[in-house]
Amino acid sequence: MRAVTVDPGREEIGLADIPEPALASATGVKLRTLEVGVCGTDREIAGFQYGSPPPGDERLVLGHEALAEVVEVGRDVERFAPGDLAVPMVRRPCEHLHCRPCRAGRQDFCQTGDYSERGIKLAHGFMTELFVDEERYLHQVPYGLRESAVLVEPLTIAEKALAQVWEIQRRLPWADPSAASDEPGRGLSAVVLGAGPVAQLGAMALRRRGFSTWVYSRSPAPNEKADVAGAIGATYVSSEQVSPGELAERVGNIDLVYEGSGASKLAFEVLGVLGTNGLLAFTGVPGHGPLAEVDTDALMRSMVLRNQVALGTVNAGFDSFEEAISDLEHFSQRWPDAVRALISARHSIEEHRKLLVGHPGGIKHVIAVAEGA
Ligand code: BGC
Ligand code: ZN
Repeated sequence: MRAVTVDPGREEIGLADIPEPALASATGVKLRTLEVGVCGTDREIAGFQYGSPPPGDERLVLGHEALAEVVEVGRDVERFAPGDLAVPMVRRPCEHLHCRPCRAGRQDFCQTGDYSERGIKLAHGFMTELFVDEERYLHQVPYGLRESAVLVEPLTIAEKALAQVWEIQRRLPWADPSAASDEPGRGLSAVVLGAGPVAQLGAMALRRRGFSTWVYSRSPAPNEKADVAGAIGATYVSSEQVSPGELAERVGNIDLVYEGSGASKLAFEVLGVLGTNGLLAFTGVPGHGPLAEVDTDALMRSMVLRNQVALGTVNAGFDSFEEAISDLEHFSQRWPDAVRALISARHSIEEHRKLLVGHPGGIKHVIAVAEGA
């Protein structure tokens, strides 16, 4: 069967013919890939800057943002039957007995660094026709999300960040963000950095929770990303036209910054205008760019005198996948056109190269792997 692979040693990417996988355990599930999203991580791996094949293999099968259909289940599988739709998680635990996060099923916080990630690090991914996984790493997706569930994985990044935001902001007891409210962000302001899929899905999650939301990204409006932001009730601001200081004047106290672009210089400038008791969550993984200057005195003074938190977050655990599926159902009902607009185009597996090394533009590009998918 066909697979998009990267050979970091030979610096080659291409379509390879690999053997079909077979169910190897009673708790295993065999799936047919329907769609796989392409993101910056895939492009970095395809540029041989990141990622590694499984031990003993020269090539890595790419792809970690998948939607698949169950074709066969092992005899002890309880939650899935053939025909079900599923989204696989990305990270698998390390094997060290002393790694408490991995032993607790929270490999997204792996302490040793010896975790693997499907399609990224030491494990094959999903840009292929069939794959096998353990039931515990799969999430059931309702059929109504057939068109959008390829966005679940990028949305989990925001869900994990938000889960931590509520934990941390419980330090502000009067705000009581843990209170059973549908809109715990009501009355608060959030700024989203970037306007790609991770950023826009984060903006939708923030809007759902009632935040006044600002999407702060490079290109001046009008453009397709500004349109998506507008459609979900967020305010789009171009960082080429409005400085971080001016942005803060418009917003008022910036309670939360959700960084989803990987642009480190802008992120640190915005940290400098974060509001009192505010929190900034970094999710982007920048490459090595030119050195930038930061006024460390001003930054540290403001962080201390304004009780601020800066947080880094990567990957996502089981609950964040469940949250993402439930959020995506809400988004698809409330903003169907904006959700559709996040997927710029679907491509055949043969077109992988232009998505991985070209400049396709747009927001999210998806490879429709299955025939007629
Ligand atoms: C993926 C995460 C992964 C991270 C680092 C991201 O693109 O969404 O699941 O942990 O890359 O490899
Ligand atoms: Zn990704």
